[in-house]
Amino acid sequence: MYNEVDLSKIDIDKNPPDTEPKKQYYYMALCRNWVETMEQQLGRKLTACIQTFGCQMNARDSEKLLGILKTIGFEQSEDPHSDFVMFNTCTVRENANLKVYGRLGYLHGLKRKNPHMFIALCGCMMQEEHVVEKIKQSYPFVDLVFGTHNIYKLAQLIYERLQGNKMLIDIWEDTTDIVEELPTQRKFSFKSGVNIMFGCNNFCSYCIVPYVRGRERSRQPEDILAEIQKLADDGVVEIMLLGQNVNSYGKTLDNPVSFAQLLREIEKIQGIQRIRFMTSHPKDLSDELIQVMQQSKKICRQLHLPLQSGSTRLLKEMNRRYTKESYLALVDKIKTAMPDIGLSTDIIVGFPGETEEDFLDTMDVVRKVGYDSAYTFIYSKRSGTPAAQIENTLDKDTVRIRFEILLKEIQQISNKKIAQKVGTVQTVLAEERNQQNSSLISGRLSNNIVVHFKGDESCIGKEIKVRLTEAKGFYYMGEIYTA
Ligand code: 5AD
Ligand code: SF4
Repeated sequence: MYNEVDLSKIDIDKNPPDTEPKKQYYYMALCRNWVETMEQQLGRKLTACIQTFGCQMNARDSEKLLGILKTIGFEQSEDPHSDFVMFNTCTVRENANLKVYGRLGYLHGLKRKNPHMFIALCGCMMQEEHVVEKIKQSYPFVDLVFGTHNIYKLAQLIYERLQGNKMLIDIWEDTTDIVEELPTQRKFSFKSGVNIMFGCNNFCSYCIVPYVRGRERSRQPEDILAEIQKLADDGVVEIMLLGQNVNSYGKTLDNPVSFAQLLREIEKIQGIQRIRFMTSHPKDLSDELIQVMQQSKKICRQLHLPLQSGSTRLLKEMNRRYTKESYLALVDKIKTAMPDIGLSTDIIVGFPGETEEDFLDTMDVVRKVGYDSAYTFIYSKRSGTPAAQIENTLDKDTVRIRFEILLKEIQQISNKKIAQKVGTVQTVLAEERNQQNSSLISGRLSNNIVVHFKGDESCIGKEIKVRLTEAKGFYYMGEIYTA
């Protein structure tokens, strides 16, 4: 854990401090008292389980939430039979919402047997009014509901809920605050996500993110660099810079800084061996960034460049602000500068009004680019977004068939691409013991493709030379290379 705080030095008999993060440390100390009392009553430690839905932003938020929970005395657990259970939710597609309601039904049964259980909901879904209304009506046993802008307040919110006797709801519409220096519990000791910005200003017509994550706010470069330095001192060798659109990083700061300039500074931090970032909006990807990537020894040969659709007509409807031709020209430029780049993408099938011709344009781009991997989604109507107003006359079967054709094509292309490297020796950052076969270690190449190889735990967190022996769809089998 980093940014650990010594709570024993905090005087909880005084009034809470006015400034953050001190105020939150004060509430952590108060909650710690409550946890200790409960431990004495129950004769055991209290456990906390966070279930995270959605993207890497949410995964990083959960590490921060877990950092606070551990500081106040909870033991981390993966089991929903815990004393504290929290869902960090996603609302980008409807499926994610439905899963949360399903699991809440299950939690109700657990809480009946274990009335002191504390249930909290947070994340993007909670930023939607109709969701909070439904939770109030149908799930009154939930203790705490908060959103995406105030996760740093978790300890204060728990304390306030414990003072009352009904569900506490604290949702902010937006914020300009960025609270630094709170405890964080990383999932991996050697790699970490680092938020460089929050929110999104792009308003792609199908997307709910700008409404639930608020306006774009960049962190100060010095805060980002200090965080990465601290992570490096704590043994982290790989960082993933996170933002909805990293290419517009720094544009709204009082002293504007470009994303490429930020990368140049990060490159200088000793101990960091690999730098990744996501997500890049194609409309904002600069020549300066391509140049910095090309010259860098640390930035991974990986770029996630969401296409969404290959049809210029649909891209306009989606408010993406690039065309099929400009996207392909950008990919050409990137490949010329870095022939070994691994490209991945996001594609939506079945956007309202998608014609066969539009779909064929998407297939054409997929073939021309030759992605290493692609995340494909069936369009999901999100209320409140401009696309939700468009009448959708596409029938489900057509969309499903297109989705399957696309998936098959992507798989064939990436299989072929991946097979080209078989027989070569590559550097793998070893990440973890394989969950299915414990004699294997799993790691990643610079281009983010997974490799499994025979090895022991001493490899984990280290860069290892591995000969790729077999391509298996999206991943490789390999063996440690000894020259
Ligand atoms: N329907 C389907 N997919 C969506 N995405 C965002 N909004 C929607 C939606 N309404 C996809 C986009 C985005 C990814 C994170 O999720 O492809 O890049
Ligand atoms: Fe959504 Fe578009 Fe912003 Fe990505 S860039 S989060 S797709 S609005």
